[in-house]
Amino acid sequence: MPDLFSPFTLKGVTLRNRIVMSPMTMYSSQDGQMGDYHVSYLGARASGGFGLIFPEQIAITPDGRTTTECAGIWSDDQIEGHRRVTDIVKRFGAVPAIQLGHTGRKGSEVAPHRSYPGYPGNSQLPADHPNGWQCVAPSPIPYGGDHHWPVHALTVDEIKALHRRYADAARRALDAGYQWLEMHYAHGYLGAEFFSPIANRRTDEYGGSLENRARFHLEALDAVRAVWPEEYPLTMRLGADDLNPAGTQFEDAVTAIGWMKDHGLDLADISLGFNTDDMVDPPMGREAFMVEMTNRVRTEVGIPVGTSWNLGIPETADRVIRDELVDLVFLGRPALSNPHWPVWAARELGHAAPFDLVPDDWRWWLQNFRGYDASIGLPPAKEAAPRLRSA
Ligand SMILES: Cc1cc2nc3c(=O)[nH]c(=O)nc-3n(C[C@H](O)[C@H](O)[C@H](O)COP(=O)(O)O)c2cc1C
Repeated sequence: MPDLFSPFTLKGVTLRNRIVMSPMTMYSSQDGQMGDYHVSYLGARASGGFGLIFPEQIAITPDGRTTTECAGIWSDDQIEGHRRVTDIVKRFGAVPAIQLGHTGRKGSEVAPHRSYPGYPGNSQLPADHPNGWQCVAPSPIPYGGDHHWPVHALTVDEIKALHRRYADAARRALDAGYQWLEMHYAHGYLGAEFFSPIANRRTDEYGGSLENRARFHLEALDAVRAVWPEEYPLTMRLGADDLNPAGTQFEDAVTAIGWMKDHGLDLADISLGFNTDDMVDPPMGREAFMVEMTNRVRTEVGIPVGTSWNLGIPETADRVIRDELVDLVFLGRPALSNPHWPVWAARELGHAAPFDLVPDDWRWWLQNFRGYDASIGLPPAKEAAPRLRSA
């Protein structure tokens, strides 16, 4: 039976454990570049023991960013910054992963912690603002609320051009040293928009039936799979439910993931659609709330799965792996608050050698020169369940 610290092999890539640093937009790029900020922040999580490390949603075009401070891979001159990130992540024993995305009608935003005169954090800027741009989407329907600026509906030629941009981005990602590629089809961004009847009202081959609403995703997967090596995992994060009767329905997501599997998908990372704020019974406060849906994808599609959302208590993260509900645990906020979350979790779970996760030179000191537990900056380890003591 696997546990949180069991290695995980997918295609030709083996992760040292099941703990994934989930992609998180950091609003810390200039001209879409990865820089010192990303190298230090991501290197800290790699030396803290995470198995797979995502930076943030990486935009395939400049207008695919969330804000002008977000990272991209639309140009060859961005490869070097990404290579610095993959080098540091590999050096500390983790596998570097990239999440390719396009924000669609949710782009042109103000970063949450910033504001411009008249535009608070998280609001959307109009196309004529110096930090804004014209957003695109399947249909000319703005998201709503403070995201109300006119949206350009993509033509079929523009959709096909975007698929070429995905392939170009994947080629650059490979060149930069990434070994795992996730397509971002969730959280109200372009992939989620094409999938959801709330955002996609097209009447051509990219809208209407489920088959048509999934076409964008399948063609993008085909374009990427053609350039992304077979030995490296190709995965995607899907907004599998809008929690709204007019939006994406989970049963449709299960069917479409089956099609994606036939198009070369190796693992599904399940999340919500977020194509509307109008959700029935939003589950955000509940622990592990995506696990049940994610496990249904694992069982019904027969594909490895991972998920995020409120899995930061070590016992919970370990249980969902031990019970074989999911294959990987994605951690967002816990990875922000504690770069050494895996070490802490290993101690909490009574793992025999938690400091094996950090680089060898620190490990020696932490194992052999301890004083008393609290003196090393971690709370004393809890009395763990006996079954875990031998792990
Ligand atoms: C600051 C921040 C930025 C995020 N940016 C992204 C992103 O770029 N791509 C994505 O798929 N999810 C993004 N997310 C969602 C996380 O990857 C994760 O799914 C979510 O936080 C739930 O996991 P958690 O409960 O462990 O935080 C972001 C979350 C946070 C907190």
